[in-house]
Amino acid sequence: MNAELPDILSWRKGSSAQPVDWEKLRNDFPILQRQVNGHPLAYLDNAASAQKPWQVKEAEQALYDQYYANVHRGVHTLSQEGTNAFEEARAWVASFINAPEKEEVIFTKGTTDGINLLAYTFGLDYLKPGDEILLTGMEHHANIVPWQLAARRTGAVIKVVPVLDNGTLDLESFDKLLSEKTKLLSMVWVSNSLGTINPVDYMVPKAKSLGVPVLLDAAQAAPHMAIDVQALDIDFLVFSAHKVIGPTGFGVLYGKRSWLDMLPPFMGGGDMIDQVRFEETTFNALPHKFEAGTPHISGAIGFCAALKYLAQIGMDRVAAREQELGELCRTKLREAFPKLRFIGEATERVAVVSFLLGEAHPYDVGFILDKEGVAVRTGHHCCQPLMDRFRVPGTVRASFAFYNTKSEIDQLIAALAKAQKMLLP
Ligand code: ALA
Repeated sequence: MNAELPDILSWRKGSSAQPVDWEKLRNDFPILQRQVNGHPLAYLDNAASAQKPWQVKEAEQALYDQYYANVHRGVHTLSQEGTNAFEEARAWVASFINAPEKEEVIFTKGTTDGINLLAYTFGLDYLKPGDEILLTGMEHHANIVPWQLAARRTGAVIKVVPVLDNGTLDLESFDKLLSEKTKLLSMVWVSNSLGTINPVDYMVPKAKSLGVPVLLDAAQAAPHMAIDVQALDIDFLVFSAHKVIGPTGFGVLYGKRSWLDMLPPFMGGGDMIDQVRFEETTFNALPHKFEAGTPHISGAIGFCAALKYLAQIGMDRVAAREQELGELCRTKLREAFPKLRFIGEATERVAVVSFLLGEAHPYDVGFILDKEGVAVRTGHHCCQPLMDRFRVPGTVRASFAFYNTKSEIDQLIAALAKAQKMLLP
């Protein structure tokens, strides 16, 4: 690994020795200054997508103004500079997740794209009738539907680890469901709807001890914590840049080289080939084998800037700040609204607060909150089976990032008080 890149300890601690001035740092996010419906914006929909600091936009602008060209395809200066920056982004991502080699980092369109890539390669090539794919009851649709499609074509069977009333996984059932029939454990690390941090330290070694490969969906973990794919010993990991203060349409699939070398290509096209003949085509080395066509160049450049930004703060400080906000929000909600019910009360959790206000429909609550400048997500959060499990149509979800403030929590409470008055008897 390049010596200039942060190691895992630096990712945790951050490169700046100064305490973080969280209020000042908000100036890096211009959108946070805007008004919505005559109120200051309180952006509490970070689990859906995070806001971007100006450094991300500036990096993308510098690409377009100074060195834009296609990558991996030209001997001219611009193409060389673009390729260097693109590959620097890959090295930063590898450092961010502590991947042993940057070639094990495949750039994708996002979490959904990464899981589909695996479902159409690993799934179609390695699953046989009767093989089992083990998921959990708190997956979002992107970690359910691709496996259903693969199961339909291969005869494999999907098994599901149930969710307990407090929003944690039923580990006794997990132990029983994991067997020699299990050919993949594909699970969410942090639930987007409940905030639960799943016990990967228990579950991954259990699966590995039976020789079961593991795919971790880190879409909601990557924004909040340092990731070490080597310590976890996972086979695959996916996440999206846009939830980690980076650009949309860009994401990451990490895979162990031993798997990625073995898997067939997913999409065919430019860059993923070695030699193309009408009789037969041979494929490029990693990571290019899985990156057909002109990639999302500005996505990589923008995400690299996002990672450099986070590396200064340090993921432990990000986590601590968000934890403080999330717990304060829960405490204030509990105190102010006796009719409020949390959905998901795991003790290990990130700052995702899902709730229902009496019998009020989440959409109605969300609508009134928006009128007060508060942005939350309402509905099933792309987790319909989980909502069915809790017998709710959906929830109101306030999800925090490190740039949120305590006064935004007060704004949420005041707006909810209005919603309560309008919607509940
Ligand atoms: N999965 C994203 C969310 O939780 C879109 O809102």
